Amino acid sequence: MPTPSWKPPDASQIGVTLETFILEGMFEFPDARGTFTSLLNQICLAAKIITGRVRRAGLADVFGYTGETNVQGELVQKLDMIAHEALVQSLRRRGHCAALATEEAPDPILFEGATGNYLVVSDPLDGSSNIDVDISIGTIFGVMRYDKSRGPVDQSSFLVPGREYCAAGYVIYGSSTVLVLTMGKSVHGFTWDPTAGEFFLSHENIRCPSNGNMYSINEGNHCRWTPEVQKWNAYVKADDEKTRRPYKHRYVGSLVADAHRTLLKGGIFAYPPDTNNTNGKLRLLYEANPFAMILEAAGGKATDGQKPILDIAPTEIHQRVPLILGSVEDVDTYASFMRGEGPR
Ligand code: AHG
Ligand code: MN
Ligand code: MN
Repeated sequence: MPTPSWKPPDASQIGVTLETFILEGMFEFPDARGTFTSLLNQICLAAKIITGRVRRAGLADVFGYTGETNVQGELVQKLDMIAHEALVQSLRRRGHCAALATEEAPDPILFEGATGNYLVVSDPLDGSSNIDVDISIGTIFGVMRYDKSRGPVDQSSFLVPGREYCAAGYVIYGSSTVLVLTMGKSVHGFTWDPTAGEFFLSHENIRCPSNGNMYSINEGNHCRWTPEVQKWNAYVKADDEKTRRPYKHRYVGSLVADAHRTLLKGGIFAYPPDTNNTNGKLRLLYEANPFAMILEAAGGKATDGQKPILDIAPTEIHQRVPLILGSVEDVDTYASFMRGEGPR
């Protein structure tokens, strides 16, 4: 295995596989050696399995509900469970992952006998409500280490701020399957080529624009928002060419799709608190934190409307949080409205 100082002959890495990209140290992550690369490999295997099932969902009888509800009280779609099982079966091998916490299980799944000290959090299938209508869905994941000296892994091992994650990523099952990954310093995207059976680098060094002209929010919740959010909403829709307003409205209803577009094009995505979801709807550990790590590494921003998502100390693994992410200038404008100081 080449030493971290080894650099490939040419400058661009477009076209290299994900594994080569990591092993050549292109994420500037000194620890991205065997174990970590092997763990990421397992996550990629789960993504490949899920991709296969998503691409033939209509044929493989994975539409519809299992009849159960998950810990969130939400009706579980079959594909949610297939994705959850794919992650469990992939991560229980090789011994790198000590435990996995996902949206679909009330408590973390502990992998007996694991020798590694990595923990994985995941939303195995994000955008469930869009499965049956063939709209982009995805898988979100975060990787953290746990301190073995603090005793055996349990729920509390996962309760660390997102700032301590060592990697975060998502897979979007859209017109193509793209895996986006960061280890904190840079963000890169890899497109799945089913003919080669590999993820190839396709989006090298993704940067989130400093501002944009799109906003993404569920307008149907308008009457439930606070007056401050309603004032911000009116601001982005007002007519003022020199500040790129009115912003275009784009809302898919899958966080992975709305956040991926915001990461690449700039602008803002917001799922604020409302009278129905007083702490917001999205989950801190496996939806907000991974995207917050990705946005910050790409030069964007992610807050709960006031403070950085990555600084929030979790109190339980399924806790919800308001999530505002995107271009720095747009997230800062939103925050100024939350302080009652928004531009007029
Ligand atoms: P999940 O399918 O994992 O439960 O996530 C759905 C989330 C997220 O993907 C999306 O941003 C949000 O729900 C949409 O919520 P609304 O339908 O209330 O807008
Ligand atoms: Mn989700
Ligand atoms: Mn989900």
